[in-house]
Amino acid sequence: MEFMTTAEIREKYLSYFEGKGCKRMPSSSLIPDDPSLLLTSAGMVQFKPYFLQQKQLEEPYVGTTTVQKCVRTNDIDIIGTTGRHLSFFEMLGNFSFGRYFKKEMCAWAYDFSVNVLGLPAERLYFTVFEDDDETIEIWKDLGVPEEHISRLGEDDNFWRAGPTGPCGPCSEIYFDQGPEFGCGSPDCAPGCDCDRFLEYWNCVFTQYDGQEDGTLLPLPKKNIDTGMGLERMAAIMQGVQSNYDTDVLRSLVGVGERLSGKAYGDDPEADLALRIIADHSRAVTFMIADGILPSNEGRGYVLRRLLRRAIMKAHLIGIEGPFLNEYVDEIVRLMGDVYPEIVENRELERKLILSEEDRFGATLRQGQSFLEEALANLEGDVLAGEEAFTLHDTYGFPVEVTREIAEARGVTVDMEGFERSMAAQRERARAAGAKDAEAAWSTYGGVYADLLKELGPTRFVGYEATSAEARVAALVRDGERVESLAAGETGEVVLDVTPFYAEMGGEVGDTGLMDNGEGHVYVLDTKAPEKGLTVHSVRCEDAPLAVGDAVVARVDAQRRAAIERNHTATHILHAALRQVLGEHVKQAGSYVGPDRLRFDFTHFEALTPEQIAEVERVANLRIMEAVPTTIYETSLDEARADGVTALFGEKYGETVRVVAAGEFSRELCGGCHVGNTAEIGFAKITSESSVGANLRRIEAVTSYGALAYVNKVEAELKDAATALRVAPFDVAERAAANVKALKELQQKGKRAQGAIGGDAVAGLLAQVQEASAGYPVIIARTEVSDGGQMRNLWDVVRSRMERPGALVAAAVAGGKPVLMAAGSDEAVAAGFNAGAVIKAMGPAIQGGGGGKPSMAQAGGKNAEGIDDALQIARDLIL
Ligand code: SER
Repeated sequence: MEFMTTAEIREKYLSYFEGKGCKRMPSSSLIPDDPSLLLTSAGMVQFKPYFLQQKQLEEPYVGTTTVQKCVRTNDIDIIGTTGRHLSFFEMLGNFSFGRYFKKEMCAWAYDFSVNVLGLPAERLYFTVFEDDDETIEIWKDLGVPEEHISRLGEDDNFWRAGPTGPCGPCSEIYFDQGPEFGCGSPDCAPGCDCDRFLEYWNCVFTQYDGQEDGTLLPLPKKNIDTGMGLERMAAIMQGVQSNYDTDVLRSLVGVGERLSGKAYGDDPEADLALRIIADHSRAVTFMIADGILPSNEGRGYVLRRLLRRAIMKAHLIGIEGPFLNEYVDEIVRLMGDVYPEIVENRELERKLILSEEDRFGATLRQGQSFLEEALANLEGDVLAGEEAFTLHDTYGFPVEVTREIAEARGVTVDMEGFERSMAAQRERARAAGAKDAEAAWSTYGGVYADLLKELGPTRFVGYEATSAEARVAALVRDGERVESLAAGETGEVVLDVTPFYAEMGGEVGDTGLMDNGEGHVYVLDTKAPEKGLTVHSVRCEDAPLAVGDAVVARVDAQRRAAIERNHTATHILHAALRQVLGEHVKQAGSYVGPDRLRFDFTHFEALTPEQIAEVERVANLRIMEAVPTTIYETSLDEARADGVTALFGEKYGETVRVVAAGEFSRELCGGCHVGNTAEIGFAKITSESSVGANLRRIEAVTSYGALAYVNKVEAELKDAATALRVAPFDVAERAAANVKALKELQQKGKRAQGAIGGDAVAGLLAQVQEASAGYPVIIARTEVSDGGQMRNLWDVVRSRMERPGALVAAAVAGGKPVLMAAGSDEAVAAGFNAGAVIKAMGPAIQGGGGGKPSMAQAGGKNAEGIDDALQIARDLIL
């Protein structure tokens, strides 16, 4: 056998099947267009609609061929312990949707193996599904000796992507690595768990559509789905026994050797870590490039787990500090030409990984202290399995690390308990997954899928016009097809042609009217429940609507124009954000409505006010340049080559629509846009916030919306100015001064209150009475240390009285009687006169004093006379 690089095998495979009439298609994203799957795990995933005859492959192709990036983590714990299992791998495949079948497939697989790769025929073994005599005959006819063919059961030779969907019996091809790699058992044969027989090619005869109840419905046509593990084939062609010794993965192991100073092959523990990091780093890089962000659920959790496992392993072999980007650089160098997305998203990969490394550093420290505490509180010398599980689940501590640390202290871990907790979690995850799968396939059924099949896609003319003549092709009411809707009824309408844009890509659906000559039908919303099928939600106003009716369909053009302004503004803001913040900014979601827009993007910290101002400045600069927008169709490859921004994690067909506003913003987009950026008028960012780890959101308004926003801000400012009695632009200064003054006052009040004591104040406040002149008044004895405190007392009491009133207080301070009377403006206006009251009270304490109507004090010699003095006041006032 001739040595071949991974790149050579990949290319030979794809061109071989191209030569057989298969169309070479790109790998699909790791985020499957199929809600029944978390991640793309096989080459056939993107072809499910073809197997189900929902999509047709164009003539004259006989099938397709791809190299598909795949992630599988069901056996994550085995990864690294064998040379065969990987979380990320490339799968070579060819697929037929009813055009070629077993006979051709087997002949080509044999020919490719023996004549193109040069594998010795005597080292090839074949398995077939237990009752598949036909395939046995086909292999025999190709010259395979009978003793190299064996039958295996459902577990090995019946392939399914999930609990339901396209599936079928399969035939697998194995390469005999030699008896020296075997287990030595007399039963050792293809299918055995040992390393001797390496399965490298799975040929599935996809004939069934598995139903939820387990029945297998025959598919309309007989299909082929094959998958060859590229890394496994590279190992064979490079004469090595492990994937990690092949060109690409060995280079990555080399990165770890360099960073850790450990030589691969010296120490089994370090080797395991080097393999795991080499494997996981590829999965991480490709997942981020396809738009997956680390999180605590779904595929984001898979990503986080892989990242953390890699970091943990690196920690174990002495790699300190952020290191994963060294791997990413090497992956980009090795694989960037085949998968340009990992190059395009390099900045995002770098920043996300750094941020996760940082975050996990903190988690790791927390986990370590959790473990320390658990060990310190331990009674006996066995750590409970649940504790190890918590460490694994919450802190991302692999159990072997927990064991290692525990064992160093003479403590063992209850592994059975740990496994029990793990199994319970797996069960929970499985149950959740099954539910997802259920939801997924049910979307393929239903009335809309039937309508799409029957009527084909709706012709959309709404880019050019906001009204069109159309015919009612179908009506639906409460999920059932009907022939007509009566006046006053609501339902859904499918037209043959429509100017109404169906909600998609963040842009809301159009609203408007249909007119059938007899009356009006209001279109309340427009959606596409099946891709390509436009469904209008309507209410018949004053006439019925029937299938076959000719209608004039008119979009609310003003509302649409507002949506268009916001949509083009979204693109311009996106480009401005990238310019100001960096290339790591990727769109993660958007909402484009008539009144406002929202844009979510990847970024790692809050924007500063200066950054927001700069984004706004750059965006408005482009708007005011009055650039005409251009919209054109091109191939996905060409658009990518031109550097057009493709949306993160989005699926595109081969022909794509580019929306450009000059050179500044070019995006793939199916939405509605203005003809010239000047129509946007003015864009204003109204808020910036966080919407999750590493995700920020801005909200903005444009044109009339921006005007309304600015007017509102101005009106608020004017109101504030009026309240503060200053000019609008002095509001900030005055408000700041007022806040300062208020703070001082509060502090003063607090000091006074502190000196007086809350009890004294409360005691006085409990004694409010009504003066005969109609204001509240307190006439009471109290406790103070001097005359100054008496005055402070009034400050506090007046601020706490429910209505403005007066206070007449008497106390003994330092053995001497003191009197104080004070009143609010209101009390004084009602006739209260502090000076007069004090004057009248003075003789009772053998003293005197006086003051103004609002405040007066007196001192005296006879402390015994206080009660008499107070009685005099009562007589005067009450
Ligand atoms: N779908 C099959 C597999 O993944 C063959 O491509 O093995």
